[in-house]
Amino acid sequence: MFDAIAGRYDFLNHFLSAGIDRRWRRRAVASLALTGRERVLDLCTGTGDLAIAAMRARPGAARVVGVDFAAAMLVIGNRKVGARRLQRAIALIRGDATRLPVADASVDAVAIGFGIRNVDDVPAACGEIHRVLKPHGRLAILEFAIPRTPGFRQAYLWYLRHLLPRIGRAISRHDGAYRYLQTSIDAFVSPDEFVKLLRQNGFMEVRPVPLTFGSVILYTACRS
Ligand SMILES: C[S@@+](CC[C@H](N)C(=O)[O-])C[C@H]1O[C@@H](n2cnc3c(N)ncnc32)[C@H](O)[C@@H]1O
Repeated sequence: MFDAIAGRYDFLNHFLSAGIDRRWRRRAVASLALTGRERVLDLCTGTGDLAIAAMRARPGAARVVGVDFAAAMLVIGNRKVGARRLQRAIALIRGDATRLPVADASVDAVAIGFGIRNVDDVPAACGEIHRVLKPHGRLAILEFAIPRTPGFRQAYLWYLRHLLPRIGRAISRHDGAYRYLQTSIDAFVSPDEFVKLLRQNGFMEVRPVPLTFGSVILYTACRS
């Protein structure tokens, strides 16, 4: 599905979030408190926006490896990396979040932007993140959630269930992708459950930070 929509993915991301997605990614990168020396893994990197944000932050990462299993998303990502002359600092590689092609305790930080919800086996991915992170390495995960604020919640649900799939279908020309966006947000575990899962997988200082009225949660944590 992601291969099929890769060409329109970035435009739709910025359009459907009114450009706020860039701010969410900058917040996630800021939470990693990078110093310019870190090796960062961007999991489910897609077209590489979070990898690029980690490299462009001041101070940012020393090196970023992005992993995704959708080849067409990586093609777009590599084009963007090349256009920004970041190919020496960012490597985007094909791989599965549940079987990472990355050595044990080899990265200082892991970031995921709107990808964990899509992974089939979330506990396996959490275990892999724990394996590849160095002790006390930092984790930042951005994921959509259903806001709890009365009024905003109803408006958001209407947008998510009615407007977003229509706009997504018209622009991406893919029948199911933006319906899937809605159903996958609905189906993903609650913030409390996800916090619990991270703790069960060996993460400490797990904090869910609501962004934009709770429509997005930034989960920050640290490896034990
Ligand atoms: C919604 S996109 C997010 C892309 C990017 N991180 C962003 O911030 O826009 C989700 C990505 O997760 C990838 N993905 C889903 N399951 C995966 C898995 N098990 N292993 C690797 N990538 C996966 C998809 O291919 C897709 O590119």
